[in-house]
Amino acid sequence: MIKLKNVSFKYGFGKKKEDNLSDISLHIKAGECVVITGESGCGKTTLTRVLNGLCPNYFEGLISGTYILNGELVFSSGEGKTIDIDSDYEKSLDDIGLLAGNVFQDPRSQFFSINTTDEIVLAMENRNFTREFQVGGASLEKNYRDNRKQFVQIELLAVRKEYQGKGFMRPLVETAFETAKKAKLPVIVSTDAKLKKDKYEHIGMKHVNTRMLGEKSFMYDLVREA
Ligand SMILES: Nc1ncnc2c1ncn2[C@@H]1O[C@H](COP(=O)(O)OP(=O)(O)OP(=O)(O)O)[C@@H](O)[C@H]1O
Ligand SMILES: [Mg+2]
Repeated sequence: MIKLKNVSFKYGFGKKKEDNLSDISLHIKAGECVVITGESGCGKTTLTRVLNGLCPNYFEGLISGTYILNGELVFSSGEGKTIDIDSDYEKSLDDIGLLAGNVFQDPRSQFFSINTTDEIVLAMENRNFTREFQVGGASLEKNYRDNRKQFVQIELLAVRKEYQGKGFMRPLVETAFETAKKAKLPVIVSTDAKLKKDKYEHIGMKHVNTRMLGEKSFMYDLVREA
């Protein structure tokens, strides 16, 4: 999973003799939980920055040794040589970031958004998750937009656990139905949950398409015509 061999790192390019990390070799296997302890300033944070690529791709410095992440080479210097970020780094910071992440000492300071849904969506957008959605074919929304047809869409209806199963979904959907009725427009909805698809069908929507996203996930498209 994570392999370091004789990795050394020194912040900056000055003539300072001491490395901030000196000759670190370790092997962390998949599923292992490893605790790194040591006195303040011994290099724990610096080590995590090497693992996530921030040292030296963001915090500049001289690095040497070999780093293998998930079976793939991140960098390897010849013995006694330091790495040239431009030519010796096999993986981009973005690619490393998809595999190696950090949680800050105070995890709250790491959140971007004020609610959990936006927080999750941000990460998915960063990982270009929308591309996977396109694999199963165009969504109803895209079809309608491409054909310049107007519609009312029920979007991301997320109900908090404590409010689930208490009949809140129905009035919300009814609101969409009424709005659409007044404007004489169809209502569309897409859901990845079979149970929700059944519920939408039960309240008068028609299941018109199932898109396959990956091996086990589906997206169900439903319409209620005007
Ligand atoms: N951005 C930086 N530029 C230069 N030197 C740095 C930088 N960040 C840390 N250092 C130095 O690198 C050494 C290791 O610091 P690091 O923050 O990795 O220690 P730590 O083990 O995480 O400490 P703590 O327990 O206090 O969090 C220290 O001597 C520190 O002063
Ligand atoms: Mg630290």
